[in-house]
Amino acid sequence: MFYVFSTPQSLAQHLSNILIQRIQQKPNIVLGLATGSTMEPVYGNFVQRIKQDNVDLSQVRSFNLDEYIGLPPEHAQSYHFFMNENLFSLVNLKPEQLHLPNANKQDIESECKKYSEQINKEGIDFQLLGIGTNGHIGFNEPGTPFNSLTHMIELSEKTRIDNGRFFNDMSEVPTHAITMGMADIMSAKEIALVITGAHKAQTVLNLYNSPVTEKMPASMLKEHKNTHFFIDEAAASLLPKEAYQFVA
Ligand code: GLP
Repeated sequence: MFYVFSTPQSLAQHLSNILIQRIQQKPNIVLGLATGSTMEPVYGNFVQRIKQDNVDLSQVRSFNLDEYIGLPPEHAQSYHFFMNENLFSLVNLKPEQLHLPNANKQDIESECKKYSEQINKEGIDFQLLGIGTNGHIGFNEPGTPFNSLTHMIELSEKTRIDNGRFFNDMSEVPTHAITMGMADIMSAKEIALVITGAHKAQTVLNLYNSPVTEKMPASMLKEHKNTHFFIDEAAASLLPKEAYQFVA
């Protein structure tokens, strides 16, 4: 079942309510964090609520989903930079609480192995996810095995073109990334997949119609016991009425 919200803002409000509740219930919660323009209103609202309610984040830990290979953390399009701009520098979260894949290591393979091991050890309580137009989650492109752990991936042409809007020209768009694997994502106790915007309406319809298959990575979440599918009206516009419930 998809839950539909009139705007990305009302969705963000609902989702940050859930996040704040989960933090209050478990102050040492482990969050899985996502990047992308979909997450901007989510973090915007979350930061506002944290300040308003004086939420204590001192025991929270986080794992980011993915990072481009070849962009240093201070590059404006790196996911490190995105997280600093949209969340970390705005609230009381210290670097030692945060995990992001280090895509600038020489030995990417051992960095990936270490990242999955840490996820496995700490256990993600709540994972935020966006989706690519081809159904990718994190940077797990169509065809990525469901049993994959954190790994390096070659970005598909579609993903490079979609994400190219943030770069000056296509030659600057990285060709590879590190991403949490499908099994790392699936290990989270609770997940929220957030999809907004008319440009994702076809993706939402494809996801709704898709069987659980590696060809549509996000379809894996249909087998997860505790995933919220949160969508705005624009992204839900092609769905049949019986596929969703309107929330706010
Ligand atoms: C990138 C990220 C994904 C994100 C997707 C969609 O490819 N690796 O985690 O979900 O973009 O981004 P946007 O929210 O900007 O559409």
